[in-house]
Amino acid sequence: MPTFAAADRALSPKPTLPAHAAARDDGFAHDLLQAFAERPREISPKYFYDAEGSRLFDRICELPEYYPTRTERAILETHAGEIAEVVGPGAEIVEFGAGSCEKVRLLLQALQRPLRFRPIDISAAHLEHAAAALRRDYPGLDVQPLAADYTQRLLLPASEPGVRRVGFFPGSTLGNFAAPQALGFLRTAAHVLRGGGMLLGVDLVKEPHLLHAAYNDAQGVTAAFNLNLLARANRELNTRFDLDAFAHAAFYNAPLRRIEMHLVSRRRQTIELEGQRFEMEEGETLHTENSHKFTLDGLRALAEQAGWRCGPAWLDRRRWFCVQWLQSPG
Ligand code: AVJ
Repeated sequence: MPTFAAADRALSPKPTLPAHAAARDDGFAHDLLQAFAERPREISPKYFYDAEGSRLFDRICELPEYYPTRTERAILETHAGEIAEVVGPGAEIVEFGAGSCEKVRLLLQALQRPLRFRPIDISAAHLEHAAAALRRDYPGLDVQPLAADYTQRLLLPASEPGVRRVGFFPGSTLGNFAAPQALGFLRTAAHVLRGGGMLLGVDLVKEPHLLHAAYNDAQGVTAAFNLNLLARANRELNTRFDLDAFAHAAFYNAPLRRIEMHLVSRRRQTIELEGQRFEMEEGETLHTENSHKFTLDGLRALAEQAGWRCGPAWLDRRRWFCVQWLQSPG
């Protein structure tokens, strides 16, 4: 009864969000609607990370194909002494996108008397849990978690005069940004961390087949992570995405030096969002993530453009991943 349904929709009030979703309006409903209304259809990867998405991401980090996490960990372990030296004693560490706060332990262990740790993450549940574990394991450390979207605004409480603030941005999360946003983030970070520095971990350009495998794992965890975006919409926004009607696609776009992740429509279908209908042809996609890969020179040029001075960089032997020290000029 299409006409009847349409009339019904016109008369009834706008579908309301479940209370818990409306209460913390993170923009998901708005951005999803916008994604389907525009061409190309794309949405920020930050919406992957609800509790389930954060769990799936932690599983990705343990996959044999997903080399970035273990490569970066090895770099932090191997060069812990030198890294502790550039960071200096008594520092306040600010981590952007801290997640389960596992990686920072390598840093905290190596540092001399770290004063405070401020993990910032979009997933509040994940963060509280991780903060409690850190307080237990580092009794002398002041752990001050901040549930916030650091891509929107970066406001930190003032620290005591003379305390050196050092950013920690590992995991190549910088690669999620397009170049202008990456530059914007690095500029804002340079301001917030002025007088201190930042440890920045990024994934480097490498053989496409290695990149491809890392985002197309045999167990399908990355596919589940990608599809969780729609599963999350079904949980939080009362949408009715048929997950079987979408396929995970990830490929290396060599000229743009990035992995692109998409959700591909497996057939012609109609998507209903907040009373609006959107047609999706077979093969049309929702672009869910870019994961840019860097060259060392490219990364340094970007950081300098953002007002940082580049210090030492530590790489693994295969030059797959890089941890770069950025120094505040003032
Ligand atoms: C957390 C953004 C660095 O791009 O490699 C992992 C996210 N996406 N597998 C990445 C991700 C698919 C990850 N970052």
